[in-house]
Amino acid sequence: MIAPSILSADFAHLADEAQAVTGADWLHIDVMDAHFVPNLTIGLPVVQSLLKVTEIPLDCHLMIEDPGRWAPTYAEAGAYNVTFHVEAADDPIAVARDIRAAGAKAGLSVKPDTPIEPYLEILREFDTLLVMSVEPGFGGQSFIPRVLAKARTVRNLVDSGELQLLVEIDGGINADTIEAAAEAGVDCFVAGSAVYNTADPAATVQTLRGQAAAVRTH
Ligand code: DX5
Ligand code: ZN
Repeated sequence: MIAPSILSADFAHLADEAQAVTGADWLHIDVMDAHFVPNLTIGLPVVQSLLKVTEIPLDCHLMIEDPGRWAPTYAEAGAYNVTFHVEAADDPIAVARDIRAAGAKAGLSVKPDTPIEPYLEILREFDTLLVMSVEPGFGGQSFIPRVLAKARTVRNLVDSGELQLLVEIDGGINADTIEAAAEAGVDCFVAGSAVYNTADPAATVQTLRGQAAAVRTH
């Protein structure tokens, strides 16, 4: 699965930018609050507007403090998947349950230096694990390969039936890095600059998906 990140799109033309990636599996929405990360992007009103203009399921990545307060509102609005950061949550299980009760899939995200081992048990409460492969906050950064060990660990638990969730990766994914991520067992690839900074974003989505699929089938 490929999830283009609109962080690299033209914010003055978001409806067109959603249309430009027709064929994408999810549309990734980076919500930043200038507290959890040193950047400020978009929030609920923009997500509500996007829901009216695209059929692509919205994958909301909340890089915010106090996710327990805000995450369920994205689910209620109609987001398909709502992901928050474990580093920001006092009670991640309660937040996941609230997201699911509000009708969305629940995702947990870990920053590059956050180990996954302490959270393997609670992943039972989640539908997606979002492994950050850059420090959250900005698009266009370089991929950090060492995070792939976390993807591999969770992939193995999914393959052995101990966990049931999608492994998603976010940050620095492009034609040069997607194969290594696919090799590590990632299911869903977020790509911002690699998709939107090309002349034909929809074609780039297909190319990236083809690269990942080729790795996963051999
Ligand atoms: C970074 C965001 C990413 C970002 C990825 O904090 O979570 O989703 O848009 O951008 P690229 O693909 O350019 O690294
Ligand atoms: Zn993101």
